[in-house]
Amino acid sequence: MKITVAGTGYVGLVTGVVFADLGNEVLCVDIDPDKVDKINKGNSPIYEPGLDELLQRNLEERRLHATTDLAGAVRQSEVVFITVGTPPTPTGEPDLKYVDEVARTIGASLNGYKIIVNKSTVPVGTGDRVRRIIEQHRVEPHEFDVVSNPEFLREGSAVHDTLFPDRIVIGADNPRAAMKIVEIYAPLERPMLITNLPTAEIIKYASNTFLALKISFINAIADLCERTGADVVQVAKAMGYDTRIGSAFLQAGLGFGGSCFPKDVRAFAHSVQRYDLDATLYEKILAINDARPVQFVERIAQRLGGLAGRTVGLLGLAFKPNTDDIREARSLEIIRLLLEQGAVVRAYDPVAMPHVQAMYPQITYCRNAYEVAEGADALALITEWNEFKQLNFERIKALMRQPNLFDGRNLYDPQRLQKLGFYYYGVGRANGNELTKPEDAEGI
Ligand code: UDX
Repeated sequence: MKITVAGTGYVGLVTGVVFADLGNEVLCVDIDPDKVDKINKGNSPIYEPGLDELLQRNLEERRLHATTDLAGAVRQSEVVFITVGTPPTPTGEPDLKYVDEVARTIGASLNGYKIIVNKSTVPVGTGDRVRRIIEQHRVEPHEFDVVSNPEFLREGSAVHDTLFPDRIVIGADNPRAAMKIVEIYAPLERPMLITNLPTAEIIKYASNTFLALKISFINAIADLCERTGADVVQVAKAMGYDTRIGSAFLQAGLGFGGSCFPKDVRAFAHSVQRYDLDATLYEKILAINDARPVQFVERIAQRLGGLAGRTVGLLGLAFKPNTDDIREARSLEIIRLLLEQGAVVRAYDPVAMPHVQAMYPQITYCRNAYEVAEGADALALITEWNEFKQLNFERIKALMRQPNLFDGRNLYDPQRLQKLGFYYYGVGRANGNELTKPEDAEGI
């Protein structure tokens, strides 16, 4: 099948490459000629395990080509996927200008029946909006259908997630269009769900918001654990054994960052309000998440008796391991708070340092975890990269000015570190903090 994928970000490029690998002829379109050039040379503009190999193979087999010419690509294709960004506006609502722009070009380029598939994360009702724009810009009266096919891939495992999705959601009002999209995905042999357009649009936001809810929920529990001497890691483990709850996305820590969760929950809250519904639940997910870095830095400051002139070392800067992405990374807010309070900051991340350096040139960037520890009053784990899992803590202790370890992802064994002579703080773990009893427990 001839397919156009408009937009070569994480979703677009990975989707395009996988569709090509399934035997389709794919045109990947982007407005950025540098990106297009890189793709055609077999160098993916994004870092994603396995992507370069897959890209090169499909370029060689001539099943994939990148171009800046959207109109030309649309004319040659039966199906056009829209995978452009929907960045948040200052109020938190997604900006649909790139989706609109693509829809206008599609409308103007229609030269026969086509299926327009929206894969960008967009609020419920956008399918209808795309349909209207195409109708308005159509020069010849060709028919078309709009389909919603939300994407659930995660950064760092995007190729794997695209090849082995838990489910494929196809929202279409016309069964003929739905079946054409089923045909594209059939070789993956994964569960498929055909719904109407608004249902598919809501599935995407409801799924991401629910995962974010799980993270904020366990972080709220972590706060109670800290005050009562309980251990959130064990609470989460026991909860996770209940198959109705499941263990995924119950890791307490610094909360969620990245290009999806914060933006999607904010956007969902807006959508809900637009339909005169109460968004408190969704706002609370964000409020709990926003408080995580503040509380973490407070713990460091409490331990060090203030941060002015203290050296704090950060392990990891990316919003999660296996990516160089720092969008809404917790590290950024932590660095801001540390600098604001006069701390000296040292940091290391295997791939994300250049991006952070552009924002915070005033901090010291190191070559590894041991260099970060040199002269530090506190070491804080921010991103749980594999290479931080088996550190030589005897060596680290000898390099630090004071052996204080703040584990933002509950990666380490508290007892082991305490035995080595570290002060250890894990989020929501039994940290030996004083118990804060509720008022009515007094005098019992
Ligand atoms: C997410 C969704 O998982 C994916 O389905 C959707 O398509 C895009 O958004 P992504 O943002 O790539 O993917 O990362 P994910 O692995 O889901 O992690 C998001 C954030 O949550 C990270 O900052 C991570 O550190 C944090 N997280 C995750 C926790 O704090 N605790 C957890 O238990 C899980």
